[in-house]
Amino acid sequence: MANADLPNAEQAFGVYVHWPFCLSKCPYCDFNSHVRHAQIDEARFLRAFETEIAATAARTGARTVSTVFFGGGTPSLMQPSTVGTILDSIGKHWTVDKNVEVTLEANPTSVEATRFAGYRAAGVNRVSLGVQSLNDASLKELGRLHTAQEALDAVAIARKNFERYSFDLIYARPRQTPDEWRTELKHAISEAAEHLSLYQLTIEPETPFATLHAAGKLVIPDDDNSRDLWDVTQEVTTRAGLPAYEVSNHARPGAECRHNLVYWRMHEYAGIGPGAHARLDVEGRRRAIATEKRPEAWLMRVESLGTGIVTDDLLTREEIADEFLLMGLRLAEGIDLERYKRVAGREIDPERISMLESLGFVENASNGTLRVTQAGFPVLDAVVADLAA
Ligand SMILES: C[S@@+](CC[C@H](N)C(=O)[O-])C[C@H]1O[C@@H](n2cnc3c(N)ncnc32)[C@H](O)[C@@H]1O
Ligand code: SF4
Repeated sequence: MANADLPNAEQAFGVYVHWPFCLSKCPYCDFNSHVRHAQIDEARFLRAFETEIAATAARTGARTVSTVFFGGGTPSLMQPSTVGTILDSIGKHWTVDKNVEVTLEANPTSVEATRFAGYRAAGVNRVSLGVQSLNDASLKELGRLHTAQEALDAVAIARKNFERYSFDLIYARPRQTPDEWRTELKHAISEAAEHLSLYQLTIEPETPFATLHAAGKLVIPDDDNSRDLWDVTQEVTTRAGLPAYEVSNHARPGAECRHNLVYWRMHEYAGIGPGAHARLDVEGRRRAIATEKRPEAWLMRVESLGTGIVTDDLLTREEIADEFLLMGLRLAEGIDLERYKRVAGREIDPERISMLESLGFVENASNGTLRVTQAGFPVLDAVVADLAA
């Protein structure tokens, strides 16, 4: 499937830019983020970002950029002028939509009012803050360097500088009860304007949390407790007008993160920087592209070869169809069954759909979409595996 498979009005093109450094490594996190004690040569990284943007644009040809997302790591450690120059470079090589959404992820530890004003002047129009919890003991346990008050101060600075902002919370934390979570979530909603990302704590392999968990020193809620916490999340957010539009993302209708929708709707996106992933349509065929993860190795690769790419695979029809199910069924809006048919060259087995429908896990709506229900989301992986079989 290519973007061209969609009507023009629905085509989107996102650019993801990865800043791979953090002030400290959180013990639960397995993102491509690194701590460096020596000064980072930001100007040198900036030149490499510009080189990779030029090389990517040479492959895609003309595109209209609808979204840009600075993710990390901690992109709010970048100077506003670096962010501005990257955006200028994107504008030099592609057309930029006049309503472009430009998001920057920020860690409360690195939020300062002047810096945020600088990002806004550089062209950022949305920020996503890693608040994680509004409880000091939990923040400490999560290894965060900020307090709940510092996170709320950062939210206030975001609110002052940006019309659109979001923040992340991690729930299903050790010993967390549904009542405590309900209170914390209500407090969070009173601070959130239009969007919240609410992630269940996941024990990622090879993290310090995985070691503690294996040793029985970190106990997370069991399946029943997690389910109760999930139910509280859905109930409180829906009642407050911020229903889930994706498994872990909640927004007022119309305030969804358009960049993340690019991934879930299987539109086209470029990936710039260490460990960035892309899905690009080159000569009408979809490719899965990834760059070198290690920041300094990526830098040297870009400087010597003009690009940090280490994998560049043409996707088969079957692979694209599976990805379409895997990503699209995360969305409350579900997937368009006609589009699936165009992509896969076959329809999803109607018997499988009926069986999942009779279990109450999916809904086959009259407008030709297939959606996972509230009862189906907690078992999403099994639903996708069944439909993809
Ligand atoms: C890559 S981080 C970037 C945000 C920023 N670096 C920060 O921490 O403030 C994106 C989000 O992923 C979530 N996250 C990372 N690891 C997680 C885990 N193991 N379980 C649940 N959520 C996680 C956190 O909520 C985090 O804010
Ligand atoms: S959660 Fe954010 S700040 Fe912590 S290590 Fe991961 S990317 Fe860095």
